[in-house]
Amino acid sequence: ASTLGAQAAQSGRYFGTAVAANKLGDSTYSSLLNREFNQVTAENEMKWQTVEPSRGSFNFGPGDRIANQATSHGQRLRGHTMVWHSQLPGWVGSIGDANTLRSVMNNHIAQLANRYKGRIHSWDVVNEAFADGGSGGRRATVFQNVLGDGYIETAFRTARTADPAAKLCYNDYSIEDWNAAKTQGVYRMVRDFKSRGVPIDCVGFQAHFGAGGPPSTFRTTLSNFAALGVDVQITELDIAQAGTGAYANAVRACLDVARCNGITVWGIRDSDSWRSGENPLLFDRNGAKKPAYNSVLTTMGGT
Ligand code: G3I
Repeated sequence: ASTLGAQAAQSGRYFGTAVAANKLGDSTYSSLLNREFNQVTAENEMKWQTVEPSRGSFNFGPGDRIANQATSHGQRLRGHTMVWHSQLPGWVGSIGDANTLRSVMNNHIAQLANRYKGRIHSWDVVNEAFADGGSGGRRATVFQNVLGDGYIETAFRTARTADPAAKLCYNDYSIEDWNAAKTQGVYRMVRDFKSRGVPIDCVGFQAHFGAGGPPSTFRTTLSNFAALGVDVQITELDIAQAGTGAYANAVRACLDVARCNGITVWGIRDSDSWRSGENPLLFDRNGAKKPAYNSVLTTMGGT
């Protein structure tokens, strides 16, 4: 096939992108989106700050625009994200009482799940809950500090009850290298969840890489997580300077693992990227295909 989504579909995978609702009116952007991609992730529109800026007052307008885009173009939708310490409104961060925070978190999850039920393929239920560096432990967020280790399990159970059909994922960055302590920490959590029947279906590897691309152990990492009984996905791929070899290596790591069922790049054109100074994406500022685009397409077997 001659597009990313169609070629990925030939092996039962999807190829997606992060989408910003305020760019959908840009015709260069939307024509690339609808030509090349068969999955979308809301870049910011389903985050807590946007969805529930004050307690109990929900704003689904921006998220709905992403969901409508996906539905009307037959693109899978990944919800991003229910529980995250960043882009979290101040009112949540200042809750110090565990019962209050637990009910606020559970209500937030249930509201999101209900709103997009039937339209969501997968949810990033919890994002970036592990600490950077060598500890392999949890990040000290308000959820961790007030609710303790059990909050992630609570979040997944609440999400499953609210939308039993959605795939429930844990998503993080810098967990691509099998030898990293952070990777091991997440692995132990997923193994524990699977052994105790905590509902988790997938793990997202963000894959924000430097110019060298993925670590050499990336395929091993994907395959070891998959062996626990979860699907794995590359969820936010971008690579500084977008080298063709680096992109090919990232794509190949996924193709080599049967349960790696999708790849999402974190934006369409370099100008759409959160790290636009590094030109990390597959299309240039004018929307033209870069060499990395051809590398990704041909690595998947397309022409
Ligand atoms: O919408 C406001 C606008 O009203 C305001 O004038 C402007 C001024 O700064 O800010 C706008 O909000 C920005 C928002 O993106 C929308 O463009 C925020 O400042 C900015 O911080 C925010 O950045 C997002 C970032 O997450 C926040 O942490 C990026 O777009 C988004 O790509 C990025 O995505 C994250 C994933 O969710 C999780 N993994 C890492 C990834 C990259 O950081």
